Amino acid sequence: MKLLNTLSLFVSLVSCSKFATYHNFVTKDVLIDDGLPPHPLQGLPYGKLAYPITTDGNGREQVEAHLTYYEGKYWMHSATWSCGGSLFVYGIVSGINFPESPVYPPGQYGSPGNCGIKSYSSPDLVNWTLEDYYQPDITVANVTKPVVRYSNETNNYVMFMGGNAKSNFYYATSKSPSGPWSNPPSLLSGAHITHDFDVAVGPDGSHYILSDPFTDYLPMDTYYTFPIWDIWVQKLTPNLTATVGTKNTSARIRTAQSLAAQELYLEASSFFYHDGYWYMMFGRTCQNCAGPIYYLYSKNPLGPYTDGGYVTLDGCGAQNKGTNILPSENGPIVVAGALAYRTSATNVVVNGSIWHGDNHQAASSTFFFPLEFNDDHTIKNYTCPATVKIPLAANITTQPDSPTTYQLDCRIRNWHSIEAVYDPPKKSNSLEFPIWQRTDNLGQTFNAGPMLDHPVNVVISFADGDASHYSWAPTNVSWAPAKIHMDTGGKEISRITLSTNATNGCFGTLVQAKENSKSKYGSLVGGTFKEDSNAQLYVYKF
Ligand SMILES: *[C@@H]1O[C@H](CO)[C@@H](O)[C@H](O)[C@H]1NC(C)=O
Ligand SMILES: *[C@@H]1O[C@H](CO)[C@@H](O)[C@H](O)[C@H]1NC(C)=O
Ligand SMILES: *[C@@H]1O[C@H](CO)[C@@H](O)[C@H](O)[C@H]1NC(C)=O
Ligand SMILES: *[C@@H]1O[C@H](CO)[C@@H](O)[C@H](O)[C@H]1NC(C)=O
Ligand SMILES: *[C@@H]1O[C@H](CO)[C@@H](O)[C@H](O)[C@H]1NC(C)=O
Ligand SMILES: *[C@@H]1O[C@H](CO)[C@@H](O)[C@H](O)[C@H]1NC(C)=O
Ligand SMILES: *[C@@H]1O[C@H](CO)[C@@H](O)[C@H](O)[C@H]1NC(C)=O
Ligand SMILES: *[C@@H]1O[C@H](CO)[C@@H](O)[C@H](O)[C@H]1NC(C)=O
Ligand SMILES: *[C@@H]1O[C@H](CO)[C@@H](O)[C@H](O)[C@H]1NC(C)=O
Ligand SMILES: *[C@@H]1O[C@H](CO)[C@@H](O)[C@H](O)[C@H]1NC(C)=O
Repeated sequence: MKLLNTLSLFVSLVSCSKFATYHNFVTKDVLIDDGLPPHPLQGLPYGKLAYPITTDGNGREQVEAHLTYYEGKYWMHSATWSCGGSLFVYGIVSGINFPESPVYPPGQYGSPGNCGIKSYSSPDLVNWTLEDYYQPDITVANVTKPVVRYSNETNNYVMFMGGNAKSNFYYATSKSPSGPWSNPPSLLSGAHITHDFDVAVGPDGSHYILSDPFTDYLPMDTYYTFPIWDIWVQKLTPNLTATVGTKNTSARIRTAQSLAAQELYLEASSFFYHDGYWYMMFGRTCQNCAGPIYYLYSKNPLGPYTDGGYVTLDGCGAQNKGTNILPSENGPIVVAGALAYRTSATNVVVNGSIWHGDNHQAASSTFFFPLEFNDDHTIKNYTCPATVKIPLAANITTQPDSPTTYQLDCRIRNWHSIEAVYDPPKKSNSLEFPIWQRTDNLGQTFNAGPMLDHPVNVVISFADGDASHYSWAPTNVSWAPAKIHMDTGGKEISRITLSTNATNGCFGTLVQAKENSKSKYGSLVGGTFKEDSNAQLYVYKF
């Protein structure tokens, strides 16, 4: 008996599940001003956004990021905007002349627009490595929202992607979740598979796609009309590249008009199977902005569905995106993703709420919230935690450390520089840290230009009194943090100063909580240094 107790205690100790820590928001804001003020109607009630990085010290682009677990590893597939551009100018606005889309000069980061898809891998959901950057030619496809599933018929991983809202979804295939992905992407075949989607996998391995095709425009007031969408669920063929498309495998779950009659304007969908039920979750129709999350659930993929109601009225400051099913010791868990768009003071407001967040999305990220269920299978309301713990696969026996939190600082403007001071100086052979750019958002359809209008200048001052001057053309600065490199020849760095003469936006850095008490970080305005005493510049390598 005693031995048995000891044994079971031992078993429960060794099988004690490990978890990954994920930061949605920074718990300790190390910058008062980060040069990224939100719109007052969509403040940051849960904190400023944490910004994640990869193992190589670049920004981890998590736009519409989706998580999976295959072949003993975690995968993240996400859309990217690091090549710049601002694309979302749809939404009909009468009385406003849409400007011509600006002509984007080619940059070092690919064709502007939806820049493509990054595939990342991780052993532990914390430490992420970039595996592949898929950039189909924009004359062929602009791809967004990558969702990866496995076809046991073809042994292919199939990456479903959104594209043009009014033509079918794209897909690409690969023999590995790391890519490379077939290029150009193909169009999924079937009817009613446009706009937004998610793919749920049933307990028997069958795949169903949820879609919300365009139905009509509703006039909202004299100024705006509002697109509305039906909700469909359809079974996919075993190769996952077509809908079966028969009457008994396709169902229109709701009509756009019936939803509008309930005052539900749903888009931004997710769809998953969990513990005997199928769930669909939605955000409110809105371009690039936060909103409520509403859900429906059913015992059968094709319905009938019961309204579960709202789980949050503000999406925790984000818009609903895909749900991710991951393994854990206690069975599959559901981790909901929500896309945290940035807003600015100049965003358009209609009827008391933001109609359209910022046009460019490189600085946005995805929040992850593990879902909790009540005994009656309804979903518990969101609590919007800054930090979540996500249970890991049963055979992961090492507890990963909580990752460092980083935040964006976009204060390098024509009148405002950023400076990092090292006293004692730092010996350096090769200096690398990430920088990024962002043009000012001037409203729904206008940006202050396709990219910044002057270079970013970096001056490295050495302890011996020398200085090295560098500058990067805006065509050569990513919109998401990406490292720049400077050969420093083993000299001692006493100061790094970042400045610009650009007039239409800001260059940015990444900062973290101060670890090196001998360093100083702050701004330089009119020759006066103002320290941010809790922050230090994130430097990948000295
Ligand atoms: C965990 O199990 C998966 C198979 O389910 C395997 O591919 C992976 O290598 C295992 N991981 C560890 C850390 O043992
Ligand atoms: C993260 O991954 C990199 C590259 O695989 C490795 O060198 C590093 O030790 C890992 N870090 C942690 C904390 O696991
Ligand atoms: C992709 O977006 C770019 C920029 O808006 C546009 O010029 C191009 O026509 C789009 N491509 C497709 C296939 O729709
Ligand atoms: C393969 O997938 C089909 C559905 O697409 C399912 O019926 C079948 O059980 C799956 N087979 C395995 C071995 O998972
Ligand atoms: C405007 O807001 C009011 C109050 O929140 C709401 O009842 C109404 O439906 C909204 N109208 C539009 C066009 O969104
Ligand atoms: C996928 O399977 C369907 C049904 O068997 C078939 O019609 C379609 O041609 C297949 N697609 C591809 C790309 O092989
Ligand atoms: C749909 O009907 C066909 C016959 O028309 C049948 O073979 C198939 O099993 C049915 N599928 C489902 C999911 O009920
Ligand atoms: C969940 O949140 C919704 C929206 O705020 C609210 O109407 C509902 O009462 C909440 N449910 C519970 C159980 O707190
Ligand atoms: C772009 O920047 C990289 C370093 O970040 C540099 O190696 C490269 O030469 C630059 N390209 C141009 C065209 O300036
Ligand atoms: C920036 O503007 C200042 C003031 O007009 C000028 O002195 C300086 O040379 C400019 N720097 C660059 C790199 O263009």
